Amino acid sequence: MDEIEPATSPPFVRMGTRALGGRAWLLDGPDVPAQLAEKRRVLAAHHDVVVALDGTELPAAELLDLVHHDLATRPPDAPPPDRRDRDAQPQPPLPPEPAPRTRAGSAAPTRSDATEVRVERGPNPARVDASPRAAPGRLHPPAAGPAPVPPVGPGPNESIAGGLHPIDAAARLVAEDLCLLVPSNGGGGWVLGAASVCFPSHWRVTEKLGLPLAAVHAPVPDYAAELAHRVDRFLGRMRAGRGVVRRNWTVHTEPDLYAPDLPAPPDPPIAPGEAGQRLWLRSERQTLIRLPRTGAIVFTIRTQQVRLAAVATHPDLRTRLARAVAAWPPHQVAYRGGESTRGPLLAWLRSAAD
Ligand code: HEM
Repeated sequence: MDEIEPATSPPFVRMGTRALGGRAWLLDGPDVPAQLAEKRRVLAAHHDVVVALDGTELPAAELLDLVHHDLATRPPDAPPPDRRDRDAQPQPPLPPEPAPRTRAGSAAPTRSDATEVRVERGPNPARVDASPRAAPGRLHPPAAGPAPVPPVGPGPNESIAGGLHPIDAAARLVAEDLCLLVPSNGGGGWVLGAASVCFPSHWRVTEKLGLPLAAVHAPVPDYAAELAHRVDRFLGRMRAGRGVVRRNWTVHTEPDLYAPDLPAPPDPPIAPGEAGQRLWLRSERQTLIRLPRTGAIVFTIRTQQVRLAAVATHPDLRTRLARAVAAWPPHQVAYRGGESTRGPLLAWLRSAAD
């Protein structure tokens, strides 16, 4: 919670990126087993949370290697994520070679947890078999520095016979949702090439696959004016080994981690005194890294959520949240759940802050 930094004046959408440095790329924590179990439930119930364009198997296999490496090299008695984040050390280099497949001797989930899922491939969904036999190591070109990932589009299908798409396999191992950005076919810019997002905050990967980032963010007020250019320039300059982290926050009326749709206004309406119990403060710790071999960009989303009532013990955050919510212009209010959420939220934050 200490990492949430509400913008209390315009612009209300900001880059907010910081160097990962020695901070963890993927977050461990006591909530990981429950989130992995929820992912398995979501994957079994919703076929449309994993999507991929043809030609994304190579960078996704590199991502899978990196996830295995992260799990295998995680200190066994790592301090709690909060402390790890504060005690940042210089960032270690990314692994030069494909890494071990599983965390040796640990209870980390393996790909045997995998069940069959449907992978959307552009406009024509095609099934990819689920047996865990992919061998990402053999899919890689020799590690000779960042090789440009081929643009997506028509071409030979590099699919992995008999295996999960590697982004699906990777996302089953960690609490993070995973997105892969690849160069657009026409060059100049990045498109969403593959994604496994089990915990969406009011959006669907099927509606974003293949889109450039500006279009991915089309519903976000002020993004086009304030951020589109800066984000594209930032991504264009990204180098392997220099990842960044940012954190957002939002308020949900339901506790579900799988939340693709904006829910109807709460019924009955939330009284200000109830907001602490009926609203959830939701935050995503997001990271962006560039893959050293294929050059694709990985966007990770780690969702963390508490009842709004938990903010009562963080008076500084409570005050800043109250200022931010009070300052939202109407289009931000509309994007962030409307007046039926903002009203009780602001009243609760203010009363608790008194
Ligand atoms: C530095 C990079 C980025 C910045 C500054 C940024 C910023 C934002 C902001 C401000 C929002 C509105 C919600 C919020 O307050 O968080 C948003 C939403 C979103 N972002 Fe990003 N973003 C970045 C990268 C990405 C990437 C790489 C993806 C790839 C999939 C992505 C996908 C989304 C989606 C799907 C939404 C929800 C859009 C909707 O409401 O339909 N973002 N982003």
